[in-house]
Amino acid sequence: MQNSERVNFASKIGAILAAAGSAVGLGNVWRFPYETGNHGGAAFILIYLGCVFLFGLPIMIAEFVIGRRAKASTGEAFKVLAPRSGWKYVGYTGVLTGFLILGYYSVVSGWTLEYIFQSATGNLLGKSANDFVSMFQDFSKSPWRPLIWLLIFVGMTHIIIVKGVQKGIEQASKIMMPMLFIIIVLLAVCAVMLPGAMKGLEFLLKPDFSKVTSDAVLGAMGQAFFSLSLGMGCLSTYASYFSRETRLGHTAVSVCVIGTCISVLSGFIIFPAAFSVGIQPDAGPSLIFITIPNVFQQAFGSVPVFACISAVLFYILLAMAALTSTISLHEVPTAFLHEKFGFTRSRAAWIVTIGSFLIGVVSSLALGDWSDVKIGGMNLFDALDFLTAKIMLPITGMFTALFVSWKLDKKMVRDEVTNRGTLKASYYPALIFILRYITPIGILFIFINELGWLG
Ligand code: PFF
Repeated sequence: MQNSERVNFASKIGAILAAAGSAVGLGNVWRFPYETGNHGGAAFILIYLGCVFLFGLPIMIAEFVIGRRAKASTGEAFKVLAPRSGWKYVGYTGVLTGFLILGYYSVVSGWTLEYIFQSATGNLLGKSANDFVSMFQDFSKSPWRPLIWLLIFVGMTHIIIVKGVQKGIEQASKIMMPMLFIIIVLLAVCAVMLPGAMKGLEFLLKPDFSKVTSDAVLGAMGQAFFSLSLGMGCLSTYASYFSRETRLGHTAVSVCVIGTCISVLSGFIIFPAAFSVGIQPDAGPSLIFITIPNVFQQAFGSVPVFACISAVLFYILLAMAALTSTISLHEVPTAFLHEKFGFTRSRAAWIVTIGSFLIGVVSSLALGDWSDVKIGGMNLFDALDFLTAKIMLPITGMFTALFVSWKLDKKMVRDEVTNRGTLKASYYPALIFILRYITPIGILFIFINELGWLG
């Protein structure tokens, strides 16, 4: 696409909501609670917040700078800003990561459709916690059902992508995000009032630092990247559609705050609910699909119609949050194929859709028939998640920080951050310092620590 032809987001709030729509998704409501559960609760959350502040926020601004300045999708942006150099491979790695995440992320997105169906048909009513466990296991292990939902979800993403940037993404984000926020707050209030919820609150709020391992730190870093959509050029691709007036720092703070609030609020639903019915917090990827139906059951079970309607609404909003994230994941490789190889948008979208569907099929079967296939002791679904979220995103993020703080012309970076001198942006020196030293050294330190080289 020529620069002059690129579409912009129609409004500033549209830009923020679209970026937040990408960031807020299953990473907050599904992945954050299970990672928190796996790594012992409150202490993990504190480390996560540190990672958001030290890595997330600065890298988000860095991605915005790259995207808006280059006016190109991430794969091409590095090439535009640093022609004839190896930096383009950072962009290419981001594109590959996005494509891989899209595959397994769509599988979990498909699960949300199954739960819309189950709640709409009343199948979540009158069940015990154990029933919910076996219901999820039967479903996720069955070969066909998850694949059908996967196909439907991938199809929905495809349709929105070919409809174009502005109409599809911006309109969708505007309506769905605030609704999701409201229903999550309501559910958290209900969950906290369940009998035995106190133990869950303790798990969330009372840090036990003896549980902090190198795995937990790596997990918190990976979660920060994943849930803020960083390290794969997703937000830089969106920033290429930002207008000249969009305030980059302001937008980044808004997205980080919205995303972090939704993650923590999801914790306030899941853990009180899990402890209330005796489900272990380290149940892994199944955690929200087992605990949330319990909240509906226990809080509203006496009025079945209400329980049904509220559960359907919740799963619809969760599916929508997943959709605004899959759209952004899809956009990265689609825009790349379109800009780099000159495919029409529709052809580029088809290639990405079919490819990610195939990755989704493998990830889905990895939880059932193919669960014996292991890499490093993990099934293929977990291995893909590990490779992308905990390795590829932080590495690309680290190089993004280095690129903006060392390689790019500082006047250009300052111009972007201050909207060509029209904003004060007094945080600029601190930003450059953090991107230069703190972010890359911090990420390296976490990797080295994980490899056990620090003793
Ligand atoms: N941030 C999204 C979530 O938390 O669900 C997932 C995601 C979207 C990750 C886009 C990476 C990305 F580029």
